[in-house]
Amino acid sequence: MGIKEKIESLRDELHKHNRKYYIEDAPVISDYEFDMLLKELESLESAHPEYADANSPSVRVGGGITKSFNTVQHHYSMLSLSNSYSLEEIQEWITRVQKKVPEATFVCELKYDGVAIGIRYENGVLTQAITRGDGTQGDDITVNVRTIRSIPLKLTGEFPKDFEIRGEIVMPHAAFKNLNNKRTAAGLSTFANPRNCASGTLKLQDSSEVASRGLDAYLYHVLPEGVISPSHRGAIFVAGTMGFKVPLKKNRFIEECESIDQIIDFISHWDAARKDLPFDIDGIVIKVDSYSAQQDLGFTAKSPRWAIAYKFKAERVSTFLNEVTYQVGRTGAITPVANLEPVWLGGTTVKRASLHNNDQIELLNLYLGDSVFVEKGGEIIPKVVGVDLDKRAADATEIRFIKECPECATTLVRKDGEAQHYCLNIESCPPQVSGRIEHYISRKAMDITGIGSETVQLFVEKGIISHPGDLYSLTFDQLIALEGFKKKSVQNILEGIVQSKEVPFERVLFGLGIRHVGATVAKKLAKYFGSMFALAEASIEDITAVDSIGEAIALEVHSYFRSEKNAVVLDALVVAGVQLEIVQTEQSRIESPITGAKIVVSGVFERFSRNELKDTIEKYGGQNVGSISGKTTYVVAGEGIGPSKMNKAESLGVSILSEQDFIELLNL
Ligand code: IVH
Repeated sequence: MGIKEKIESLRDELHKHNRKYYIEDAPVISDYEFDMLLKELESLESAHPEYADANSPSVRVGGGITKSFNTVQHHYSMLSLSNSYSLEEIQEWITRVQKKVPEATFVCELKYDGVAIGIRYENGVLTQAITRGDGTQGDDITVNVRTIRSIPLKLTGEFPKDFEIRGEIVMPHAAFKNLNNKRTAAGLSTFANPRNCASGTLKLQDSSEVASRGLDAYLYHVLPEGVISPSHRGAIFVAGTMGFKVPLKKNRFIEECESIDQIIDFISHWDAARKDLPFDIDGIVIKVDSYSAQQDLGFTAKSPRWAIAYKFKAERVSTFLNEVTYQVGRTGAITPVANLEPVWLGGTTVKRASLHNNDQIELLNLYLGDSVFVEKGGEIIPKVVGVDLDKRAADATEIRFIKECPECATTLVRKDGEAQHYCLNIESCPPQVSGRIEHYISRKAMDITGIGSETVQLFVEKGIISHPGDLYSLTFDQLIALEGFKKKSVQNILEGIVQSKEVPFERVLFGLGIRHVGATVAKKLAKYFGSMFALAEASIEDITAVDSIGEAIALEVHSYFRSEKNAVVLDALVVAGVQLEIVQTEQSRIESPITGAKIVVSGVFERFSRNELKDTIEKYGGQNVGSISGKTTYVVAGEGIGPSKMNKAESLGVSILSEQDFIELLNL
């Protein structure tokens, strides 16, 4: 046997033993024998780098270092699930599904509490692994994922040439405890819970450290749907034959259910039995089994209609309320915070919990010194959910919401219809000023590394900056003069600021921190208006014409651009040269009969789901708009479009296309 053949046969053998150990839980050789085979492979590979293979079993021990993970586009967007905590809601969902698809059957699965991952396989080998990110694009963490033993690097049996499998990477309890013990011994901070630990581990630069931490993975979603089976359960079964660790019937990780009673039985079983699982689950996912039924049901903007998650009730403990303090956010909103007698809850010690606003304090009928119930749900931030009135001390005092800002002493205001109190000293209340800058430099916005929140607060305190635009006029001499700032860190800060000039427009817009303009809304506005200048000019009506942008958002955006203070910030950004308009990508440059057209989609369609239709419009350079106006180019009218919409389109002279017209127009 030649060297190449020897290497290949060792790899095959190690892949097989890896599968037997980590997936089938039925090893046939000892750990020692396995290590010997691996050593032999490693020494042959290092002597013959010409036969290197990114999917060799030797990559399981890691070694690759990633400085920063590339952001890459998902082939299929990564949606989330709608959640419910009540069985009545599950029943209602089933009724809705059965009304639309009477023959639908259901599959129940565990809802793994870990980090979602999408893994691509081409010709049977792992080629890419991407985190969820914002659902459209995520981080390429392939190097780290290759170290997870239960994720196959090479598939067995039959498989499609090119497909993606999704699932959840989890940190098993044993590995979590082990790691935290080691960290405590080394004087390092510990991870709050296994999910945070899995997520932190996957972002490590050193893949050998990832390899040593013992992550595990369960895979449950093959894409494109239908590529290996017409049903979800079938797909899971076939994925198992390819060597994936999938939920199995035998341990009740997956079960076919025909009735609500069977579903409830599955839920109650796991609500009790989850404490014995070696990893965390936070609920049960119920899915419609057949892909054609799934297609009929389609999606909402955020999640599929063919699945729902039942979340287990959060763990609850009781403790005492010692004090209420108040935090000022970047928008000036005041959040009361319960300072609690420290209590152990769901893997961490809880000392504080948000009380949201004064209404919530009144609703809870909360007094200082009360014995309170605290819960931790899916969210990491704990909540005070109730008071044990029997335990209230005779001298317990009522909580009086503060009247003045705890930071700048400005009188607080509560606007009509709003639950939150606000400090209106927008310009000089320190946490508001630094909060806006911290938001601007945050990862989801401009991602300016090298500056943390403490640095921002220091700069604001020293009066060197007062808004995001000021960042761009910071100089080396100015920063090096500050106590504790070394040459290297000053250079890093300045470099990070310069690099932010390349960040795309939609993130600049998000970074401005306009109320109600989160990352998704910013993306929509950026795409629709194309530039900050066009958006700044837009009327409220122009803004509400954008698909799914309502009046509340439009009012905030409109007023943002009419403030003189904000004009100062924007001017500074223009001078600095940050991206204030969309850079046309190859795809959006495709010329088509609908390039630039503003299109309203209404009704139900045969060939497309509404989301598919909207995606197609965007792909061909059109813009989806929410309501018909004089500026609308086309209305694509499906089954059930209301007569008022048809009349409006006709009276404004907007062309109406049927689904068939649309297909013909684009030659689809
Ligand atoms: S199916 C279109 N099945 O929970 C979304 N998701 O809160 C299809 N998750 O995004 C997802 N266990 O990251 C599905 N058995 C399971 C799951 C599961 C955990 C995660 C997943 C999802 C999130 C939603």
